Amino acid sequence: MLENSKEYWNNGYWEDNIKNNKTDFMKDSWMEKYSEEIMNVESKKVIDLGCGIGQDTKWLLDKGFDVISCDISDIALNKLKELIPESNTMQIDIKEKLPFEDNSIGLIDANLSIHYFDMENTKNIFNEIHRILKTNGLFIGRVNSDKNEGYIKETTKEIEKNFYYDYGRYFRLFNKEQFDILTNGWDVIVLNENVTVRLNRKKALWEFILKK
Ligand SMILES: C[S@@+](CC[C@H](N)C(=O)[O-])C[C@H]1O[C@@H](n2cnc3c(N)ncnc32)[C@H](O)[C@@H]1O
Repeated sequence: MLENSKEYWNNGYWEDNIKNNKTDFMKDSWMEKYSEEIMNVESKKVIDLGCGIGQDTKWLLDKGFDVISCDISDIALNKLKELIPESNTMQIDIKEKLPFEDNSIGLIDANLSIHYFDMENTKNIFNEIHRILKTNGLFIGRVNSDKNEGYIKETTKEIEKNFYYDYGRYFRLFNKEQFDILTNGWDVIVLNENVTVRLNRKKALWEFILKK
């Protein structure tokens, strides 16, 4: 399968970022501007999918949500536990069937964690999230935009449309066309292009809120 392995996330990404204190993103409260939509969800049961070291988990816990923080990387989850001892963590692979009941979750957040997969897996992830959300539940997140400069280099291979491989890493760059496919069957509440800074690098991204 064409994907970034658990070893990539543990040793290639989190170990390096944690060791070198590359954590500027922890101060980026990007969900704040969507507080009204987020606070209106009917169930406080939330999943932070691909939570990393807990940027969004912290924000959601502070707002009173009951959060399960899920990631493939045990290094990230251990660091999250150290930073937020009251957190509830679970090691999962987003591509697998999500270990939650149908219609059981109020809100699912995937911040920069679902743009690493081919289209088949990306569609499955959207379907799985739809399955476990309660009716009127929200799927909120951010993904890399295809307007990012410098992501596609001479060495970059396009594995399939909008899905690339370079420097030992698979990644997807999103555009509106892909959202049109993936949001079929969802109510699109927010779909905005925006720019942030992460790991000292400007990042163009899409922010979305979808309702089941
Ligand atoms: C760029 S980081 C974003 C982390 C966090 N959401 C944040 O905003 O800081 C991507 C995260 O997705 C996780 N991830 C990547 N592939 C995954 C998979 N197949 N299953 C679960 N988590 C995965 C990585 O371990 C990493 O923590």
